[in-house]
Amino acid sequence: MTQQRVSEQIGDQPESRRRVVVGVAGGIAAYKACHIIRAFKEAGDDVRVVPTESALSFVGRSTFEALSGNPVSTTVFDDVDQVQHVRVGQEADLIVIAPATADLMARLVMGRADDLLTATVLVATCPVVVAPAMHTEMWFNPATVANVETLRSRGITVIEPAHGRLTGKDTGPGRLPDPEQIVDIANAVGNGVVLGQDLKGKRVLITAGGTQENIDPVRFIGNSSSGRQGFALGEIAAQRGARVTIVAGNTAELSTPAGAEIVKVSSTQDMFDAVQEKAGESDIIIMAAAVADFRPDTQADSKLKKGGDDDSLTTVHLVENPDILKTTVARRSEGELDSNPVIVGFAAETGDATTSALDYARAKLERKGCDLLMCNEVGHGKVFGQLRNRGWILASDGSVTEVEDATKLEVAAHIVNAVVAFTR
Ligand code: CTP
Repeated sequence: MTQQRVSEQIGDQPESRRRVVVGVAGGIAAYKACHIIRAFKEAGDDVRVVPTESALSFVGRSTFEALSGNPVSTTVFDDVDQVQHVRVGQEADLIVIAPATADLMARLVMGRADDLLTATVLVATCPVVVAPAMHTEMWFNPATVANVETLRSRGITVIEPAHGRLTGKDTGPGRLPDPEQIVDIANAVGNGVVLGQDLKGKRVLITAGGTQENIDPVRFIGNSSSGRQGFALGEIAAQRGARVTIVAGNTAELSTPAGAEIVKVSSTQDMFDAVQEKAGESDIIIMAAAVADFRPDTQADSKLKKGGDDDSLTTVHLVENPDILKTTVARRSEGELDSNPVIVGFAAETGDATTSALDYARAKLERKGCDLLMCNEVGHGKVFGQLRNRGWILASDGSVTEVEDATKLEVAAHIVNAVVAFTR
């Protein structure tokens, strides 16, 4: 690309578009950066890809140029008249480096500026998000551990890597999280979410998704909860250093937060049992699941037939399910939970002619006896299955904090902040 075309392109950018720099280091996960670039582009951002020279051994320059619609260079010696090594970093609103290798992080720690990517980070004043990917041994090496700590202490967000299959036969922490997870976290950080390590050593138990009550082997009573808010809470807690367990009912296809343990359940009773087993070893319990309040009093072993002799398909007799939240609060009051956890409930409410959703939530907080309650208005396409959420966080001291419309990850960050600030 000629210098004239480069400057025309830079000059063409409407002022309002967010400028996102996607840095790519030389690791096998570099191909996942293509999805990240595309996601930012589709959201309307002006994307500038800055790979290291070795990243180009994994993905070609023309792929990055085609996906971003911008020229790609790796060195400070291209477009010198544009002072590119300073300009790209100065103009960026957000920098996301994915994957980041151990070597790149070491160079960032040293404050090197020996290629365009490190020079760009050195100049930048915008939020910088680094998503490492490497073999587990490299991730746990004291040099890398110290480098990650140093970058975090300087205000750079270093995303916890996912656990799982690595290149070759080994498995463990070191995988690049899914591109959507990285984009969601980067956007949250770009919108002011701070991912410190304030939950290091804490054990967080979360319920997510909807429970399912079987009528027979093929039919069930359920609800349309996607589990997104619960998984978003798990993501935020894990990125802030917590050990996370998610007891997940029926959910959409969602990426597992870094290092989180997922316990799959189906019915309310299953969820109840899983929560009671873990409750005494949890410091924070957040019940975001949409739990079925009732279940059929019997479950047929074989598929019920319509037009049969009995009324089993036209009339389903229901019995009440145990209340997981209330039972957990009661067990804590009775001193049965050694860990003495902070307990957070959710309230999915619709207001009516006489009572607002918030007033129903106030009554629910009182009834359930938990410490905090996240209330959101549901129904008419709101919240369930959606990517965004809003509502109020109510505390047992009577305070109410409004949470404005935001992504579920950003709402999760507000809830976790409220938990951290809460003292009983
Ligand atoms: N919950 C629970 N066990 C149940 C029902 C609800 O643990 N059997 C939890 C939910 O996970 C949520 C909170 O209690 O954190 C409130 O759930 P919600 O369905 O809004 O409240 P209900 O008690 O079912 O009240 P209602 O449906 O009558 O409003």
